[in-house]
Amino acid sequence: MSERDKVILAYSGGLDTSVAIKWIQDEYDVDVVALTIDLGQGRDLTAIKEKAVKVGAVKAIVVDAKAMFLDYFVWPALMADAVYEGQYPLATALGRPLIAKLLVDIAQQEGASAVAHGCTGKGNDQVRIDVSVHTLDPSLRVIAPAREWRWTRNQEMEYARKNDIPVPVTKKQPYSTDQNLWGRSIEAGVLEDPWEEPPANAWEWTVDPREAPAEPVYVEIEFRQGRPVGLDGEKLDSVTLVQRLHDLAGQHGIGRVDHVENRLVGIKSRELYEAPAATVLHTAHQALETLTLSKQAVRFKTYVAQEYADLIYNGLWFCSHHQDLLAYVISNQRFVSGTVRVRLHRGACTVVGRQSPHSLYSKALATYDTGDQFDHKAAVGFIWVHGLAQQTQMQLQLQAEEPELYRIPVLRPPAIGVEEQDVSERK
Ligand code: ARG
Repeated sequence: MSERDKVILAYSGGLDTSVAIKWIQDEYDVDVVALTIDLGQGRDLTAIKEKAVKVGAVKAIVVDAKAMFLDYFVWPALMADAVYEGQYPLATALGRPLIAKLLVDIAQQEGASAVAHGCTGKGNDQVRIDVSVHTLDPSLRVIAPAREWRWTRNQEMEYARKNDIPVPVTKKQPYSTDQNLWGRSIEAGVLEDPWEEPPANAWEWTVDPREAPAEPVYVEIEFRQGRPVGLDGEKLDSVTLVQRLHDLAGQHGIGRVDHVENRLVGIKSRELYEAPAATVLHTAHQALETLTLSKQAVRFKTYVAQEYADLIYNGLWFCSHHQDLLAYVISNQRFVSGTVRVRLHRGACTVVGRQSPHSLYSKALATYDTGDQFDHKAAVGFIWVHGLAQQTQMQLQLQAEEPELYRIPVLRPPAIGVEEQDVSERK
């Protein structure tokens, strides 16, 4: 008897992907291998693995990808200052290319012809996973049950009950969430009204800043060439470092974001994020850059940062444009080593000190005290030349002009009249 074809399913242990195990078998007549990837989402992975087999997977695999996630995906994004639309540190988006990569690895190992995931047909995540899988192995098919079955919640529950798939006993989850070491994304439910203040139950990782400790706490973060390597003088591996900062900053209410975001698929959506560790690390990292990068480098980097964030958000991790940007970032970060001291207090992460062996800050030039080495006389000539073009323009053009305030430019010329149309008609 020939072996049945196999599909590797990215399995979270939730209702959707549990139902998917059974649904894929029925619909496609294949065996399902469940792959659960540990990105630090903080769930009981042994229980998830057992559940996968119980609901019908022929095999359940768990991969600890926490260190890989930080070292290969999160650190480059941090070094690039990649924050989507200035608000979202991209936790979910950064996890997707890694999930796709591991799906492909396991599919190749297991000789599967397809991979599957639980994303719906409206979000960015389906795009990120599909595009990455197609890029890494175009021969693999991608199955997305939640995009294909078009069920209501009740129909899904009905299917689950009929097939002995445990349905959650608690009320329906009020939000759709995704979480990993770099942050937690929260959407849907009452949040779909952008006027509605986020209810307290939306937040799980961060203390309400009003209830955070009255006393601030200080942390010193050490960076080496743009990567965080230690806290308070102690060298730490990536995972421990992020987990420690996560706990500490979360207790002080740091890292809540409420943002109306532009999805790749053309929809605006209201999103909450909780990213305590990411917020502290981005804040500290950028502070160290102000000390160690030249003015031109800091300015140019803002373009790179935006391009980098868009590329991650839009699911285009595995392209050469990304490699080129990263090559710039790595070179740009070679002097970004040193220590930043931040104060965490009631929702605010404030930089209070920074130092670096490669600091460009010169006390001798900056000081207003004794020891000043700046040539004050040189300033006068500089100022004259610096303002010369503007001074000339004011005299020759602007002074004589009577500008109009707020004239709106026309983008759409008026409609073409009949007289202007040259028409021939068949008699
Ligand atoms: N809007 C974010 C993004 O596109 C978060 C998506 C969260 N996913 C989820 N299943 N709730 O990256």
